[in-house]
Amino acid sequence: MTVQKVGVIGAGQMGNGIAHVCALAGFDVVLNDIEERRIQAALDTIDTNLHRQVARGLVSEEAATKALGRIKTATSIDGLADVDLAIEAATENEEVKVSIFRSICPVLKENAYLASNTSSISITRLASTTDRPERFIGLHFMNPVPMMELVEVIRGIATEEEAYQMAQDFVSKLGKTITNAEDFPAFIVNRLLMPMINEAIYTLYEGVGTVEAIDCAMELGANHPMGPLKLADFIGLDTCLSIMQVLYDGLADSKYRPCPLLVKYVEAGWLGRKTSRGFYDYRGETPVPTR
Ligand SMILES: NC(=O)c1ccc[n+]([C@@H]2O[C@H](COP(=O)([O-])OP(=O)(O)OC[C@H]3O[C@@H](n4cnc5c(N)ncnc54)[C@H](O)[C@@H]3O)[C@@H](O)[C@H]2O)c1
Repeated sequence: MTVQKVGVIGAGQMGNGIAHVCALAGFDVVLNDIEERRIQAALDTIDTNLHRQVARGLVSEEAATKALGRIKTATSIDGLADVDLAIEAATENEEVKVSIFRSICPVLKENAYLASNTSSISITRLASTTDRPERFIGLHFMNPVPMMELVEVIRGIATEEEAYQMAQDFVSKLGKTITNAEDFPAFIVNRLLMPMINEAIYTLYEGVGTVEAIDCAMELGANHPMGPLKLADFIGLDTCLSIMQVLYDGLADSKYRPCPLLVKYVEAGWLGRKTSRGFYDYRGETPVPTR
């Protein structure tokens, strides 16, 4: 079955980016979230980001207008009844994702594909909670989706070749490149990236460097475009903590122990850019380190 209509569940920073690139590539999109205000904020972000692409000469005004017109919204999961592919991009919490799959499976067309944008959780385990593990696949987009070229594709133990072919075709229509990862905790990108971020937080926790010193060290000393603490704020500290927890539990190795300082920031609700405070405070004109 060829994918023409895509459902995106979760209108946070990843959901809005996925809806953006799908609509721009010509797919009809239904964007769903439990919170109406999240959907509205996502539409505003997509509008802003598309017009930024127009201003840079990357996208024509006509293509941007058409893309916006292809995005419909739904606060009820029933709005996804006629999609060919549903991509779950909700909060990185297994219980939340499983409850979404339980409610969406009876609504979806029998032959629709189901994908998760999870950063770390087992695709095999998520797929096993659905009525279609053979049509379930991991499509791990990178943040910010309109700018990042990679999509990590993860097959669960039951994922059939047809679903993998669909994923290859779909990702190439988005103009992005695939990397294949086996279904082990945090796959490839976050298996490598997240322990580095967690170690940067330990470096801060142990007083080896300040927030600015650590970011400066990695930006100028290792040529990273963004220091690890800035990057953690950009990803979302709740997401970083969930991924570390999945690595720690899934690989049963103490080297993946989440830094207590990361836990403290999440407990404070200082989740990074999305809440305007994390390792930096974003409420003023320029970000100010919070430690
Ligand atoms: N942030 C990143 O850099 C990044 C990168 C790649 C993948 N991811 C993954 O993408 C997913 C989303 O991350 P995010 O950064 O967009 O998070 P986010 O916090 O920005 O957004 C999550 C959204 O999910 C919504 N949601 C929660 N429960 C829901 C439900 N039952 N039904 C519908 N919507 C629901 C929330 O209202 C929120 O709008 C996670 O699995 C995360 O691991 C994140």
